[in-house]
Amino acid sequence: MMTEALIDRAVRDLFRQIEFTQEPAELYDPLRYMIAIGGKRIRPRLCLTVYSLFHDTFTPEILEPAAGLEVFHTFTLIHDDIMDKSPMRRGQDTVWKKWSPDTAILSGDVMCIDSYKRMAKAPAYVLGDVLELFSTTAAQVCDGQQYDMDFEKVPSVTMQDYLKMIGLKTAVLIACSAKMGALIAGAPNVICEGLYEYGYNLGLAFQVADDYLDAYGDAKVFGKPIGGDILNGKKSWLTVRTMEKGAAGLSEAMALPSGTAEEQAAKIARVMDLYASVHVGDDALAAVRSFHEKAMTAASEVTGVTGYETLQRFADSLVARTR
Ligand code: IPE
Ligand code: IPE
Ligand code: MG
Ligand code: MG
Ligand code: MG
Repeated sequence: MMTEALIDRAVRDLFRQIEFTQEPAELYDPLRYMIAIGGKRIRPRLCLTVYSLFHDTFTPEILEPAAGLEVFHTFTLIHDDIMDKSPMRRGQDTVWKKWSPDTAILSGDVMCIDSYKRMAKAPAYVLGDVLELFSTTAAQVCDGQQYDMDFEKVPSVTMQDYLKMIGLKTAVLIACSAKMGALIAGAPNVICEGLYEYGYNLGLAFQVADDYLDAYGDAKVFGKPIGGDILNGKKSWLTVRTMEKGAAGLSEAMALPSGTAEEQAAKIARVMDLYASVHVGDDALAAVRSFHEKAMTAASEVTGVTGYETLQRFADSLVARTR
């Protein structure tokens, strides 16, 4: 079993040796920009952490697919920022803002293709399974992103619909990251599935935490503007729960104008008041803990003591996040 320090170093080094094509610069500069800024890199970290439960060294056959998970994730962020009209990500200008939406679309496309090239480096004996898992996951993320946008246009959604949506847009990629580590490690099917379940519940916790931080986070730490979900009319965990609790006036508040900076601040404040009136911030944190627990139950069914503790530390670091 590898130490966390070794996994840390592998994650840090993951993109050091990778050279992305130089030209045309307009196409590859955004890719290099996003990879260089870097994020938390939780997906490759999870993939490598799971793999490390079974093997003591990393070879390109695991490192390349792990890097592919991060490149794919970064592609989804570049396109997501166009869809969500987000000006800032990872504390920097988003690609569509810094270059243009057209550039962001094509750079995102080439990143998606790059991620497939890296998946194809998985060992031959599991290549079919890896590509099947990855393609299914990639299509599910698109499904989830469409539901996310569809939900902006409807007055309310149920918690069940919300969970299905975040399951697709966020949780499946985290689940896929965990399962891919196990698959490439040659773990038996039942263990691969248990780790998928662990990643899926962790992914749900992760997105509820993201929704929470979008309202209650610190923009400087979170790296994204606070209140973006409210301005976009997103059906976040907080809005869905506020509706469930029957707080009056949420639809009216969400329909307030948001053209000017003053209007935006007033709208965010109004919605936040409603959240506070029914204490949905605390509920969100409780939901994060509950999905975390489910993740650990799934992990306990397929790991021994050491593996369980490793996956617990990973899960703890994820749900305690502020960025
Ligand atoms: C952001 O993902 C999108 C969500 C699924 C919430 P991350 O929070 O993993 O973003 P980075 O890669 O660390 O910037
Ligand atoms: C992102 O959801 C999910 C994907 C990128 C697939 P969000 O729209 O909540 O992510 P952020 O808040 O922009 O990172
Ligand atoms: Mg989005
Ligand atoms: Mg977004
Ligand atoms: Mg968000």
